[in-house]
Amino acid sequence: MLAADRQSHPMPGEIVPEQKFVPTISFTDVPSGKYVRHVVEGHDLLISRLRDDIYVVENLCSHQRQPLARGRIVGGSIACPVHGGMFDLRTGCAVKFPASRPIRIYASRVVDGIVEVDVGGA
Ligand code: FES
Repeated sequence: MLAADRQSHPMPGEIVPEQKFVPTISFTDVPSGKYVRHVVEGHDLLISRLRDDIYVVENLCSHQRQPLARGRIVGGSIACPVHGGMFDLRTGCAVKFPASRPIRIYASRVVDGIVEVDVGGA
């Protein structure tokens, strides 16, 4: 799925929080296989690119609430620089001990070459 198309689809009867997409950085500013830290409207984000897809997670490890920035991307996951817990960038799920709880992910899209991130409903 292209980054421009990625939005969650609610289940019937599900209450959907209000979306608020805000512009962040240029798609081309994110090298493939890397991430860029960006703070927007109080949200500390890691905007990553896996091939041509953008994934956005909160810059906060769920293990001991330390920043994930400076962690390496391995495959499709980011490794926490503090204890080495890992999280799938696509889902936010913890995939390696000692992390066991997910991290927050954000919906994103690319509009006219700019990565927009949904910070609504927080
Ligand atoms: S603070 Fe991230 S794994 Fe411990």
